[in-house]
Parts: sequence; C-alpha cells; structure tokens
Amino acid sequence: MKEVLRLPAKRSCTTFKIIGKSIPRLDGIPKATGVAGYIDDYDLPGHWVGGIVRSGVPHGILRGFVKDPSFDWSKVTFLTASDIPGGNFIHIVRDDYPALTEKYVKYATEALALIAAPDAETLRAALDAVKPEIDRLPAALTLDEGLEANVKVWGEDNILDEYRVACGDLEKGFAESDVVVEGTYETGLQEQMYLETQGAAAIPLPDGGMEVILSLQCPYYVHNAVVQVLGLPKDKVVVRQAETGGGFGGKEDYSSMMGAWAALLAWKSGHAVKLVYDRKEDLETTPKRHPSRIRQKMGFRKDGALVAMEADLLLDGGAYTTLTRVILQRATLHATGAYRVPNAMIRGRAIATNTPPTGAFRGFGAPQVFFAVERNMDKAAKILGMDPLDLRLRNVIRDGDLMPHNQRLEEGVSAEAVLLRAAELSGYREKRAAYSARQADGLTRGGRARRGIGLSVVMHGGGFTGSGEDNMGTTVRLDYKDGLFRVLCSSVDMGQGSATVLPMIAAEALGIEVEFVRALPADTDVVPDSGPTVASRTTMFVGAAVYDACRNMTEKLQKYLCEENGGKLTVLDAARAFAARNGEGKLSAEGIYKGPKPASHANPWNDEKFSGDAYKGYSWLATVVELEADTDTYEAVPAHVTAVAEIGRVIHPTLAEGQLAGGILQSLGWAHIEDLSITPEGRYSTSRMSSYLVPTTLDTPGWTIEIMENPCPAGAFGAKSLGELPCNGGAPAFLSALDNALGVFAEKIPAGGEYLFGLLNPKLP
Ligand code: MTE
Ligand code: MOS
Repeated sequence: MKEVLRLPAKRSCTTFKIIGKSIPRLDGIPKATGVAGYIDDYDLPGHWVGGIVRSGVPHGILRGFVKDPSFDWSKVTFLTASDIPGGNFIHIVRDDYPALTEKYVKYATEALALIAAPDAETLRAALDAVKPEIDRLPAALTLDEGLEANVKVWGEDNILDEYRVACGDLEKGFAESDVVVEGTYETGLQEQMYLETQGAAAIPLPDGGMEVILSLQCPYYVHNAVVQVLGLPKDKVVVRQAETGGGFGGKEDYSSMMGAWAALLAWKSGHAVKLVYDRKEDLETTPKRHPSRIRQKMGFRKDGALVAMEADLLLDGGAYTTLTRVILQRATLHATGAYRVPNAMIRGRAIATNTPPTGAFRGFGAPQVFFAVERNMDKAAKILGMDPLDLRLRNVIRDGDLMPHNQRLEEGVSAEAVLLRAAELSGYREKRAAYSARQADGLTRGGRARRGIGLSVVMHGGGFTGSGEDNMGTTVRLDYKDGLFRVLCSSVDMGQGSATVLPMIAAEALGIEVEFVRALPADTDVVPDSGPTVASRTTMFVGAAVYDACRNMTEKLQKYLCEENGGKLTVLDAARAFAARNGEGKLSAEGIYKGPKPASHANPWNDEKFSGDAYKGYSWLATVVELEADTDTYEAVPAHVTAVAEIGRVIHPTLAEGQLAGGILQSLGWAHIEDLSITPEGRYSTSRMSSYLVPTTLDTPGWTIEIMENPCPAGAFGAKSLGELPCNGGAPAFLSALDNALGVFAEKIPAGGEYLFGLLNPKLP
C-alpha cells in the first residue's frame, strides 16, 4: 500500500484504527464469485417481458398506431399515454418529460407506447407488428439549429436554462490586459458504458401496490416517479436496489424512466414485468454526456497574471430538461477553472434540440468547462512564451481567494500543492523540454513515434450545488441485528465502494472492528432517505450522517457502557446487553447531515443571485499525461499518467486510487477514442461497442497516483468528494501532451487521427 501524503498539517493528524486502511471490499466476494444478484439474475416466476415502441423520427406529431391485424393482440398488453392512471410525466428537475408521448414527438428514440408479453419472442413479434403514425416536422439537430430556434423544441427560444456568474469589471479587466487569448472549444457525446445495462422489474402487490427492483443510483427518485405515474400513495410503492453494475450518472435519471415503464406494464398486465435493455438498446436510447461548445476569452498581463475572463458556454440538452438544469449550474460555477480571476463574466446556456435528452455523466458539466479553460490556458502559455505549468502556478486559486460566484476559500485550497507534486513526480519539466526539442526536429526525422507530456489542474465542488446539501435532509439509520450494526441509507454501491466506506466510517466512530458492521442494499421500505447517489456526495455527506448516527447510538448505549462492568464494555458488548434486555431489533439510532458551524467568511448561497458558497469543499487534482503519437497514423496512446489529488481525508486508499485511475481513463477515452455523433435522422451514430470504442486494459497507461490529505470540516472524518473529480482532468492533459508531441493545437474532442491529420495538413482537401 502506498503511503498517503499529508500536507503540512493545519490541523493535527489523528490516528485512526480503520480509516486510511485498505481493507478487502465488503461486497467483493459475492461479486467475484457470481453470487451477487443483478436485475437480470432475478428469477421472478411467470414474469413477462417489457418492450418500448419508439418514435423513429426526431420531430413530428403522433397521429396514432397502425397495428398489424394478423398478430394476435390478445396475447400481449399494449399501453399508451391515455392508459396512464397517474400523471404522465417522469419527475426529475422539471416535470416536462412525458412517461409516454401523447402528441408531440421530439426525438427519434422517444417512448410512445409499451408492450408486455409472456416471452421475448412474442414481444419481438408484437414490436414488429406496430408502427406509429407520425406527421414529420423539420428538426433541430445541432446546437446551432437549436439556437436559431426556427424549429421550436422547447419554449419559444429553445433555451432550457441560463445562468450567469460575474465579478469585478470585465471591460476594465480587458483594458488592463496586455494580451487577450481567445478560443472556441468543443466536446462530444460520451456514453457511460456501465458494465451492466439498464434494467428494472416491477411486481404488482396483492394490496394494489407495486414493488420495483432495479439497477439504480437513486432509490427515492425512482420511488417518486413510480408514485406519480401510477397515482398511488407513497406507502404503496416500494423500490429495491438490485446489485448495480456501474452507473456513472447514467442511472441517475434514466432508472426513473425504467422503473415507471416497468411499473405501468405490470399494473396493466397484472404480471411481474422485466424490462432489461440489451447493449444495443442501451446505447441507442439512454442519456449521454452533454456535447458542449465554449468560447473562452482571457486577458493577461505580460507577466502572465490573469486579469479577465469571459466565457460563453453552450450545452446541448436534447429534447427535454431531465438533469440539464443542475448540470448547467455546475458547469457555470466551475467555468473559471482552478484559477483566481478578478474580473469575470460567465454565461451558461443549455439548448434544446431534437436529440435524445443528454444527462448525468461523472463530472456533471465540469469536464466540459475544464476542457475549455485548460485548453485556453495552454494557448495563452504559448502566446505568452511561458511553460503551461508556470502560467498555471502564476494564476491558481489560493487560500483566501474569492471565487467569481462570491465564495471565499479561506483554507483547503490545494491547487498549487497538487500541481507542484505532480510535476515533480512525473519529471514534467525535463520531459516537456526534451520532447519539444525533438518535435522541433521535424516530424519525419528519427522514426514515427513522438512522445509528449502535458498537464492540467482541476477541482470539483463536493455534493449538491448551492443550498442542496443543507436542504436535502440526509438521514441515515444505524441498527443492531443478529450481532451486526447495519447502516441503512438510500445511497447505493455501484462499484465506487460505499458499501465498504460507510461501514468503515461507522466502525471507526463506534470503536469496533469493521467485521461487525454492514451496509444494507437500499430498499425504500426499510432505509431512510439519505439522498441520491450522485454528486460524489456519499462519503463526505452521507458519511457525516453515518457518523452522527453512531454518536446517537453511543449515547443510547451510554447507560450500558457505564453501568455494566464498571464502564469497560465496548459498544458491541453494550449492544448485546441492550438486545438481551430489550429484545432483538429494538436498538436503532438515526443520524442526519448537519454541516459544521458556518465559518466567519461564510456567505450563504443565494438562489436568486446565483452566488454565494456553492459547495462545502473543493477537491483538487493535477493530472500529467505522457503519450506516444504515431506521425504516420496520428494515433495517440497514453503511456503514463501521474495524478496527485487532495481529497480531504482518505478513507480507503486502494478504492480512492481506483476511483482516480478509472475516472481519468474515462476522461482519456472521451479525449481521443470515444466518438459519437447525431445522424441526420436524429439518432446516435452507433449502437455497437465495436464502433463506439472505450478504453480497455490495452489502452490503459501506467499509473503513478498520490493522494494528499487536508481534512475538511464539512465531511466525514474530514473527507471531501472524490468520485467525479478525475473525469475533469484527463482530457485537457491529454491534449496538452499532444501539443508537446506533434506541435498541433487541437480545439475539440475526440481528437482522433483524422482530425489531427487535418490540423497538421491544412492544405490537403
Ligand atoms: N465508480 C464506479 N466504480 N462506478 C460508478 O458507477 N459513478 C461515479 C463515481 N464513481 C461510479 C464510480 C459517479 S458519476 C459519482 S457521482 C460517484 O461515483 C458517486 O459515488 P460517491 O458519492 O460514493 O462518490
Ligand atoms: Mo454522478 S454524474 O453525479 O451520478
């Protein structure tokens, strides 16, 4: 196990018994041995299977359905919008997303009707035997077509949402600048590619209620969606988590659709219904990362000081809001990057187009804006004649700085520390100089392979944006049953490790071995609402609620701890004594997230002004990518990545390193091989893993990962967020390394061979 580096201590370093140790993950053995039950493994006797009739056209008016009379429709259940017993919408941020379209078709894979059949073959025959009748309308398929608003997709202007952040005096800032550097940067769609595809099962209950089991991130989101479409009281719907084979944001909103559709079919057919996508349907229809186009304009003094920044960012939200509003908020608030900017103006807009709604993907709007800000920094470094590292060091945000959205960071700013350490560990300076020299030799001399090295510095605000964490009411229950303390919450383990990390926090807080603590899978009949598993919030905020529950538990047991054995009992002994006296299953305690006392510099978030303390802690990451580029094929392969992160407190070093490596790899895939666009028919350009390439182990670089600690008062044992941070940094570092290897400045990703070739050979047709 690698040592965790500690920053010069601002607070004394506590010694822990369990925190900071890489114990075997508690869900590891069942997953490795195939015992763990994913939704498709569930054996539901006599269940039917569900399928979806889709629009097939990007924009139009639904007139009805033509059903082939030669098919025996009595064998199946067919369900359209008019059958829905409750509200015809999936509750997310706005309720604009219909469960099933009534009239206006807005994208090509839109759900118009549902079918349930006793078996897969009958389902396929039924799906083939029905065709929607749609009068086609012209479609807006690109950001520009959306902006022009000749075709109305959403409201009058196709603007789903707009936010602004400003500080200082922009005009004055640019007037004081010696050099102004501008660029327009574009990023593409990206698929989450969780190992397990989307899936749900719904089982009608004898009392008229509904049980829904899914692969998911947010049990109570799904619960709410099912309650709405079925029009049932809350206590008649139960949502249970099946083992979840990855989400990466993709199961944040879409599980609500899956759950609602499966529940509708189960309700109408009276059978248990499974709706499980194969990879093709999953790739064709589920939300991807928002494509973006960002114009960046920065003003610098000759010495490299950043004095002004103007950014105009556009995200393509697709046909409905889904999570776009909150993704745009995060994007707008992170748009100035990890830099101090005295005069800034950020305008963020999300545009509606006739394309499948885009959604959450690890990073949640931040990767796009970091791509733009880091690219423009590299461009500026070149123009100013500075090394990209020096320009960054000159401008990184430091303790005491005020961010453009009016949040003062008094402490816990580690941008400089991670940058310096990553540069040192990777040998950045020497390599950058050596590779530049070789590049200057010309591309044809000395073999085809060219090396390059580049870096980025990014941060990520932990938890919900704005006052989200204060208003969430994050609640956790801890109980004692069969000799174990059980952590009950709606946060799920989807591979990121919460089923290990939350019990570690509880064991540390209770002063017992972790083998006596378990986290239960989420089940809305049993677990309180600790919020959704999103925004990298679990360890930091749900962990803090777990800690609070442990404190309340210890208090409850105080009598036993003191009275018996002269106060020498452990919490575990006390719990046993409690159970012996009061009966099994009687011991439980709740905990909530309540933030630390507001600091003297606190500036509570103001929704109307869209300013104030947007996050309770920022995590920091420097990523150095070293790659090898082929000057014949323009293929570029990452060879080694050095990542240095500061995430408050490290609970489980191995899991934390895994989060960093995995997220950076996803970011590298986005940067150069994951290529997905929208066809003229409004569909994704591919639905196969043979043409949508994600990094495999063969595309994985070597790793040097180091984690720094700088405990944050808001999080459990000082933890900050980690899960999404790495997705912000890989792509810009990769492109910076491409500059160094080939002398080419790429402004969009994926930066595949053809695009690079075009940049290097601009005169070729
Ligand atoms: N890691 C794995 N293995 N699988 C996942 O699905 N999702 C990511 C990240 N890391 C994910 C993951 C996303 S999008 C988020 S928001 C966080 O984990 C959520 O988990 P956390 O709150 O425990 O960080
Ligand atoms: Mo993560 S994108 O917040 O699920």
